[in-house]
Amino acid sequence: MWFRWKNRGFMRAAGWALMLATGCVAAVSADLEKEGQESMEEELKTGPRNVVEERVSNLVRRMTLDEKIRYLAGTGFDFEAGLIGETQPLPRLGIPAFRMTDASQGSKLTKGATLFPSTIGLAASFDRELAYAYGRAVAEECRADGFRILLGPGVNIYRVPNGGRNFEYLGEDPCLASQLVVPYIKGVQEAGVIATVKHFAANNCEYFRRSANSVVDERTLREIYFPAFRAAIEEAGCGALMTAYNPVNGDWAAENRWLVTDILRNEWGFDGLVMTDWWSIYDPEKVLTAGVDLEMPYAEILTKENVLAVLESGKITEADLDERVRCILRPCVEFGLLDQPHADPSLHSTWDAHAEVARQIGRESLVLLKNRNSLLPLDRSRVRRIALFGKNAVETSASGGGAAGFEPGDAFVTYEAAIRAAAGEQVEVKVYPEHISAEAAEEADIAVVFLTMVEHEQMDRNFEFDEDSLYTLNRVASVNPNTIAVVSLGGGVEMASWIDDVAALVYAWYPGTYGATALGEMLFGDLNPSGRLPISIEKRPEDTHYFGNYLPEDVILPRTFHGWDSKHERFDVEYREGILTGYRWYDTRGIEPLFPFGFGLSYTSFSYGDLMVTTGSEKGGPVARVRLRVRNDGDRAGAEVVQLYVSDPECDVRRPAKELKGFARIALEPGEEREVEFLLGLQDLSYWSDAAGQWMADPGTFEILIGASSRDIRLQAPFRYESRELY
Ligand code: BGC
Repeated sequence: MWFRWKNRGFMRAAGWALMLATGCVAAVSADLEKEGQESMEEELKTGPRNVVEERVSNLVRRMTLDEKIRYLAGTGFDFEAGLIGETQPLPRLGIPAFRMTDASQGSKLTKGATLFPSTIGLAASFDRELAYAYGRAVAEECRADGFRILLGPGVNIYRVPNGGRNFEYLGEDPCLASQLVVPYIKGVQEAGVIATVKHFAANNCEYFRRSANSVVDERTLREIYFPAFRAAIEEAGCGALMTAYNPVNGDWAAENRWLVTDILRNEWGFDGLVMTDWWSIYDPEKVLTAGVDLEMPYAEILTKENVLAVLESGKITEADLDERVRCILRPCVEFGLLDQPHADPSLHSTWDAHAEVARQIGRESLVLLKNRNSLLPLDRSRVRRIALFGKNAVETSASGGGAAGFEPGDAFVTYEAAIRAAAGEQVEVKVYPEHISAEAAEEADIAVVFLTMVEHEQMDRNFEFDEDSLYTLNRVASVNPNTIAVVSLGGGVEMASWIDDVAALVYAWYPGTYGATALGEMLFGDLNPSGRLPISIEKRPEDTHYFGNYLPEDVILPRTFHGWDSKHERFDVEYREGILTGYRWYDTRGIEPLFPFGFGLSYTSFSYGDLMVTTGSEKGGPVARVRLRVRNDGDRAGAEVVQLYVSDPECDVRRPAKELKGFARIALEPGEEREVEFLLGLQDLSYWSDAAGQWMADPGTFEILIGASSRDIRLQAPFRYESRELY
């Protein structure tokens, strides 16, 4: 939702308009009811919101200058002692410390927390309800142990496959990321935990991330890299935001006034907590004038001495400091953190339900990319022997590394365990994690090769697997025609050179504690795969938008994580491709990817028909209502992800060939048919006009494209948009 509504209360009260404008599936009437309820709840909160403001102002009024300055930074960092970050306690005023925990795959500091499948896998599900359940479950585990600020979710857009944190994010498309992050945050916050959307902004590579200056034009930021942040703030009412490590167009993200004050505060109306990423600021004056509230994890730059010096210079006043402190306290007061005990141990009883949520994310995240001659699903009565190759079969990487990762715990299901459980007693499963037995590969009815790489924040990885992995794959595939490759990564990898050698390919992301169960279920047909790629996978970097626009040419990326805090001279990462990232690039340039955005196979097939587009006439209402029917033509139940793309061929300015503006995940029994409806708002037709400094929708004929992927358009219809509106 991109209209310039500044007030969060109004945003939620305008819930229906919001649904229209974001292209949600209106057919899901439960969603509508929920929106209705929320707008009522919001109205009821009008009173308490004033109470919050008064209480916050009162506290700030009673703080001494010393206390205010101290409040601008966290208390410290001591991971071994269970401290990632917390705000300062001010016992004199009855303000406790507000404790924080990471985040991306579960509550890192909670004892015995569930490690959920990576959020890139959630993105592959295209499932808004699952996103809500994910956020809620993580938050309940935070709250159980007293962490009321969650340092997630991350919504940086997938730009290069090498990116060390792709697994923590929601893929390449701003519409997909926005529409999943909103329910995720609602899930977190409805459990009484403040979500922290991160890392604002343009943090799309991890290679010397403090030095990688993202050079991005305004239109590209607004159309590609900002929308998920904006949706988090305006639609989900996210309580906190974390800035990024990298400079953006010259200034470090937390020292960038345009980003933090002009865009986030003034345009999007954000009045919550803006914290820095850990140890990521350098110049106290720039940080304070940018509009950032909280240095994390402790005062290294916003020391008393430095803050006093900026005050004395007249660049900021004490009233500015008051505003910073108010922004920190506001969400904390609003979420009851001053009134309730922070820990709620009774929530430990929810862990079993969370295990089920985690299993379900695992199920919906699997993307079947190749299935030659319908090798899958396997028939238990006909398969006698399965051989598993690669270390990841037994020492399964449950997640990528860094802030997101933690131990999956005793209940951890490895791929080997999952396949054994699903295969049953009749099928012999043998594992070869290290050495390759060509004989075993040949004798097995089915060979499964597990492939992964180290992915970790503060490093970007290679585009190719290491030689050992490729050797294993080639050797096994050369003797067994029924070889299945299972890739666990957060992004694309070189596969064009070997894809023809394998019979089947599964993208499995990272499974967390329980997600691997789904792989066993899927191989044997107990689960019909329904995940769709939230990224495009290239044949070769030369074909892509980022080729020549990524790292300096002489960089050799590491294979393993090399440690923290390395220093480097600043270098530019130029986003020369502008708005043409991922499928926008391939489709506009007519280049074929290896696997397109939105693609994924199923064990059944779906047909599409009866597309009807009607034009809306109400001012501020939907500009188009799109209806179609989808049918499951096969003999298995399955879920289809119907994708709506919009194309604007008549526009005077350059626009991508098409852009995702809506999607619906529809579960259908064999032979079942359902109507799917999308409502498009003005924003769905709009682009950011640099000339006008506004969003614009040019009148003319647009095309509505309905696809099973960005490259599999099943239905198409033109529709005219007549008026010219600036907003
Ligand atoms: C990461 C953040 C994380 C923080 C605290 C940083 O290294 O970039 O995403 O929340 O550490 O662990």
